[in-house]
Order: sequence, then C-alpha cells, then structure tokens
Amino acid sequence: MAFLDKHEILERNVTLLMVGALAVVTIGGIVEIAPLFYLENTIEKVEGVRPYSPLELAGRDIYIREGCYNCHSQMIRPFRDEVERYGHYSLAAESMYDHPFQWGSKRTGPDLARVGGRYSNEWHVDHLNEPRSVVPESIMPSYSFLKETPLKVADVQANLKASVMVGVPYTEEMIENAELDLRAQADPDADTSGVEARYPKAVLGDFDGNPAQLSEMDALIAYLQMLGTLVDFSTYDDASGYR
Ligand code: HEC
Repeated sequence: MAFLDKHEILERNVTLLMVGALAVVTIGGIVEIAPLFYLENTIEKVEGVRPYSPLELAGRDIYIREGCYNCHSQMIRPFRDEVERYGHYSLAAESMYDHPFQWGSKRTGPDLARVGGRYSNEWHVDHLNEPRSVVPESIMPSYSFLKETPLKVADVQANLKASVMVGVPYTEEMIENAELDLRAQADPDADTSGVEARYPKAVLGDFDGNPAQLSEMDALIAYLQMLGTLVDFSTYDDASGYR
C-alpha cells in the first residue's frame, strides 16, 4: 500500500523520524498548554478561603519541617468511602495558598485535610506528646519537644513577604501586623479584634496548655485546628453535582 511505503521512509530515516516525532509532540503540547495562558484562573474561587494567619503559617512550616507529610495526606478524594470518613472532598481552592501544597498520597496515618475542629486542643497536646496515650495502637512518633521549644517569631514578616512573592495576597496591613497577630492569636488575654478581622474563622486562645510560653506546639495546633474549616459546606454550591 502506498501509505505504508511512505511511512517506511520515515521509519528508515532516524533524523526524519525525530523531526516528525518532535512536530507531533509540539502540536500536542501547544493544544494542551496554550489555553492556560488565556484563562484568568484555573482555580475556581470559593467563599471563605483566605491566606493562613501568621501563627497558622508558622505551624505549617513546623508541619513541613517535621515531615508530617511523610505519613499524612491532605486531600480527600471524591469517592464515597473517603467522603464518609473524612468529610466533603477537597476543593482546589482550599489549597490555593499552599506553597508547596500538602496533598500527597502516603497515608500511614489518616488524611488531615479536615482535621480542624475534630478534636480539642487538649487532645492534640496529649496526642503530640505521646500518641499512644490517646490511641493505644498508634505508630505515630512523639513530638513532645514541640511544647518545650519556643516559637521563633523574628522571621514572621519575612515569611509573609516571601509568600507574597509566590502569589499569596497578604496586604501591607497584614505584613505590618504579622507579629502582633501571631502573638494575639495564641494569647487568651490579648485584644484579638485585629487578627479576627484579617483572618476570619481563625481559632483563638492558648493551644498547648501553657499560656506563659508561645511554643512551636501552639503554632502547630493552630494550624491543625483550621485545616479544612474555611469553606462553609452548608452553603457551598456544588457545581460538580457529586454527592
Ligand atoms: C510515622 C508516621 C507518622 C508521622 C511522621 C506522623 N504521623 Fe500523625 N498519625 C500517624 C498514624 C498511624 C495515626 C493514626 C493513629 C493515631 O491517631 O495516632 C496518626 C494520627 C494523627 C492525627 C489524628 C488524625 C485523626 O483524624 O484521627 C493527627 C492530628 C496527626 N497524626 C498529626 C500529625 C502531625 C502534626 C505530625 C507531624 C508533627 C504527624 N502526625 C506525624 C502516623 C504518623
């Protein structure tokens, strides 16, 4: 057949084959990538999603430093078993201010995308101090040192500024008040009107059971307690139709 003969020419000439393959891959690539430049946003905006408060952001950094992601994912897939166990499946918008995102797929422990509000602060303190004190069969390591380690606050402004550089919309006002907000969120005696206005739904108060010291455990629990709580799913309009 004439067609096969022509294809044979291509198959017998390595250079021609490479040029042909390159042309095919280029066209395919353009078709996939070009539309992304004309879309304003690939993530649907969802009401309630906001950047992390300075304390939550510090907690997130500790989460990453300690490698919690090696055993925990933060992405609930849209399958019935997952939704029944963990709650509404994760929305892209819920991790739009995560740099890097913490989706993962390694689940030695449970998914944490909606762990916020599921347990009390006291439970988290006990669990992080000694997981087996609350879950006897747990294989999670102890992180009791976090309670003894004072939280480093000197770099909080720089942390927010760095986030701005990768696209997180922290305002001048947020950056200016970063250290104040960080301390206020974990201090039961502080005036919290500022941090509440700037970071709606932020969980306030002493987290680690020791109001006298701002510890790394305060920040980590503040972070855990907000995970998955920003979107109000009783009013969220689920366009995908998935239940
Ligand atoms: C070696 C694996 C491993 C590492 C590392 C690890 N975890 Fe866990 N985690 C587990 C396992 C297993 C469980 C389930 C048993 C339990 O609750 O302790 C768990 C449970 C949890 C729970 C309770 C979740 C729920 O829905 O019941 C939280 C919260 C948690 N881990 C937070 C953390 C944080 C924060 C870190 C990092 C500081 C961390 N984990 C590091 C294995 C791990």
